[in-house]
Amino acid sequence: MTFEEVQKELDENVMPTYARFPVAIASGKNATAKDVQGREYIDFTSGIGVNCLGYADPEWAAAVAAQAGTVQHISNLYYSPVQAELAEKLCAVSGMGKVFFCNSGAEANECCIKLARRYGAQALGMEGPEIVTLKNSFHGRTVTTLAATGQKVFHENFLPLTEGFRYADTTMDGVKACVTEKTCAVLLELIQGEGGVVPLGEGFVKELREFCTEKKILMMIDEVQTGVGRTGAFYCYQNYGVQPDVISSAKALSGGLPMGACLCTEELGGVLGRGMHGSTFGGNPVACAGALAVLRRVADPEFLESVKAKGSCFTEHLKKMPGISEVRGMGLMLGAKPEKGTPGEIAAKCAESGLLILTAKDMLRLLPPLTITREETDRGLAILEKVLKSFV
Ligand SMILES: Cc1ncc(COP(=O)(O)O)c(C=O)c1O
Repeated sequence: MTFEEVQKELDENVMPTYARFPVAIASGKNATAKDVQGREYIDFTSGIGVNCLGYADPEWAAAVAAQAGTVQHISNLYYSPVQAELAEKLCAVSGMGKVFFCNSGAEANECCIKLARRYGAQALGMEGPEIVTLKNSFHGRTVTTLAATGQKVFHENFLPLTEGFRYADTTMDGVKACVTEKTCAVLLELIQGEGGVVPLGEGFVKELREFCTEKKILMMIDEVQTGVGRTGAFYCYQNYGVQPDVISSAKALSGGLPMGACLCTEELGGVLGRGMHGSTFGGNPVACAGALAVLRRVADPEFLESVKAKGSCFTEHLKKMPGISEVRGMGLMLGAKPEKGTPGEIAAKCAESGLLILTAKDMLRLLPPLTITREETDRGLAILEKVLKSFV
C-alpha cells in the first residue's frame, strides 16, 4: 500500500479522533522506524512511551511468539502460569503486595479509583468518598479518569462526569485546601507528562507521603507514563524515595502489547474482593509473556543505569542546542521548550525530515526507546537541531 492508500482507507473508516502526521509506519528496528515507502525515521516517541525495548526486539518478539503459539488466551476463570510468574516479579520489583491486571492506563487508574472508594467506604466508613488529584494532571480518557484529570479542556463535551474529584494546586497548602473528611486518596503523577513534562519537587512528594500516612489517606501514584524504567528507576517513586500505597502502570509494561496493572500494598490487597472488579483480557498470557521479557531486561540495575546515562547525554545535548530555552524531566522522559515555532509545527517539520517526536503543551516531548543507541540518538538530535535552525 502507498501512503495515500493507507491514509484514504483510514480516514474513510476510522473515527477522526486523532490528528495524525502524514507517515505510515510499516516496520522498525530498535529506535528506527521505516514507512511504507522504505524511508527511515529516528523514533523519539516509542509509540508514546510504549516500545521500551524499541521495535522488533528479538528476545521480546520470540517470547511473545512462543506464548502465542502455546496458549494465546484463557479467561480469569482459570489459573495462568505466565500471569502468576509476572505477578510475583512485578510485586517484587515494585515493593507492592498485590496486583490487578487490565489492558490500559485508564483502566489501571479506574482500578485505583475503585480500590480507593471501597477503602474509603469500608475502612474509613465514608459516604461518597472523594479523591484529590492535581491541577494539570492527566489520568485517561474514560469518563471517570477524565473526571480525575485536572484539566478542564479534557472535560468539555462529556459532561456530566463522575463525581467525587477535587483538583489541587501542586503544593501542600493546595492539597490541604482540597482535603475534607470525605477524602480517601490522593492520585498524582510524579512527572506530569501530558501536562508538559513537569516533574514534582521531592520535598513536596515526601511531605505529601507523610501527610497521607497521618490522615490515613491513600497515596496513589499514576506511573503509566513514568513507569517501567522510563526515568532510570523501575518506577519513578523509587527516585523520590517514597513508597506509595497504590500505583497504576501501563504503556511500556508489556513492551508494545496492551497491558495495564494496578498494584497495592499487601494490607490493601483484599479491598477489592471477589466479583468487585474484572477484565476479560486482563493478564492475557501473550501480554504477560511480553511483560516478562520486558522485566527480565528493564528491572536489571545495569539497564536502569544505562537509561540514566542516556538521559544525561540527551539533556546535555538539548541544553546546548540553539533554539531550546529549557530542558526538564528525568531519565528518558524529557521536555524541551522551543524558543521559536510551536511544538506542533516543529514536530511536523521533524517528521518531514525523518524524526518522530512528541509534544506536550508548550514543550517538545521525548520518550525514546530505552534501548536507543548512541548512533540513533545523534542522528535524531542532528535532525532536531537542523529543524530548530529553520525556525530562527
Ligand atoms: C499519566 C497517564 N495516565 C494515564 C494515561 C492513559 O493511558 P491509556 O491511554 O493507556 O489509557 C496516560 C496516557 O497518556 C498517561 O500519560
